[in-house]
Order: sequence, then structure tokens, then C-alpha cells
Amino acid sequence: MESALVQPWGETAPEGEGLRAWAGKPGRIHTLSELAARLRAEFEGRDVVCPQRLQALMAAYQPASPRDWKPFAKFDRYRYTRNLVDEGDGRYNLMLLCWAEGHGSAIHDHAGAHCVMRILAGSLCEVRFAWPSEHAAALPPEEGEPLQELSKCTLENGDVCYINDSQGLHRVENPSHSERAVSLHLYCPPFGACGVFNQRTGHRSTSHVTFWSRPGDSAGGRVSRRNRPQAPAEDN
Ligand SMILES: [Fe+2]
Repeated sequence: MESALVQPWGETAPEGEGLRAWAGKPGRIHTLSELAARLRAEFEGRDVVCPQRLQALMAAYQPASPRDWKPFAKFDRYRYTRNLVDEGDGRYNLMLLCWAEGHGSAIHDHAGAHCVMRILAGSLCEVRFAWPSEHAAALPPEEGEPLQELSKCTLENGDVCYINDSQGLHRVENPSHSERAVSLHLYCPPFGACGVFNQRTGHRSTSHVTFWSRPGDSAGGRVSRRNRPQAPAEDN
């Protein structure tokens, strides 16, 4: 078993437009099921994964049509949804997040996991924040300090971005009032809870994560209103 995964392509993955070109090296991936198979192979027998390879695989997912991912795209009227695509034998979670107009997440961490996000439709705004200082975290919630904003960017269709806890916290939202957005997310290892943060005070609370839908849900993938899981927690 490999103890660490070195980049077999012998170079560092560039960002943005360059990543998409570089991602040609793993070859174009046409379907979500093919992506899941490639991800499972990537994790097979390895203790450590390479975030740049994961980004390259997510970038290489270039379906001929949105019809490939639309069976997983289930929107809610009130807030964004998390729809499980593949659990990766417990090594990762691959999921589709569906953002109706104006929907957004809370400011959150990623519970020590790698997070790779790929935009499939529309655009999303990502705002990153620094972790609360130790001093601020020790204060009572009502005496906290505002979180420091680090960066703000717009992610367009096809863009891939990566974050882990060493890079801070973030909030993701669909800023459009007329267009929905869909994003494909890979989390490894999977996690069942994460921290969410009050922007004004930096106060942290724990949020448990749930899925709006899972593969094999009844009614052809649709979840009946009566059997719908609770609205997902403030995370993504
Ligand atoms: Fe996130």
C-alpha cells in the first residue's frame, strides 16, 4: 500500500483555466458513474490522497449534456439541497448541490476534509474568511469579533475550486435572482458534522449534515414530500 500519493504527472497543478487544460491528462470523463469509478480507483489502496489529482478528476468531468447529472438535481424552494451521488465505499462523498435563486450556505469549515467543488450550471459566489482568533473564540457570543474576510470570487460554469481548513472558512451562494446554479462537490473523508460561524461575532456552532436525496430514492429518484429528510443543515 502506498503511504503517500505523489503526483504521477510530475508537475504542480495550475489553477483556473490552466487546471482544465492540465486535467486533460487524466482524459475526459463523460459521466458521473465514470467519475465515481475513477475516484474509487484513485482511493484504492491509498492512505493519502493528492488534492490536485482530485481537482483534475473533477475538472475532467465534462459531460456531453446536463442530462448526465440532472437525475441528481433536486431543488427546494427554500434553501439549497445536497444530493448524494456516490459514497465511495466510505472514503469520500460525491454530491450535487442545487442552489435556487439567491440560496446560500452559512459560513462553515470542512471538518478537516478536502473539499473540491466544480460548477455545473450557473455561477456561485465564494467568500472566504479567516478563522476566529483564539481570543475572539474564547469570548462569549455576544462579545465576539467579526470574521475577517479574506477573498471573494465568482465561480463560473466549469470552474473548479478547492478548500480545506488550513485555508480558512467560506460561504457559498448563488447571487442570481433569475438563474439557478448546480455544483458538484467531493469531500474526503466524508463528515457528518461541521462548524458554522456567525459572521458578526465569530461564534461557532456545530451543524449536522444531511442529504436531501440519495441514489435509489423511491419515485425514480424523487423524494416524496412526506418522506423528505429534514432540510439540510447550514453547511456544504
Ligand atoms: Fe464548503
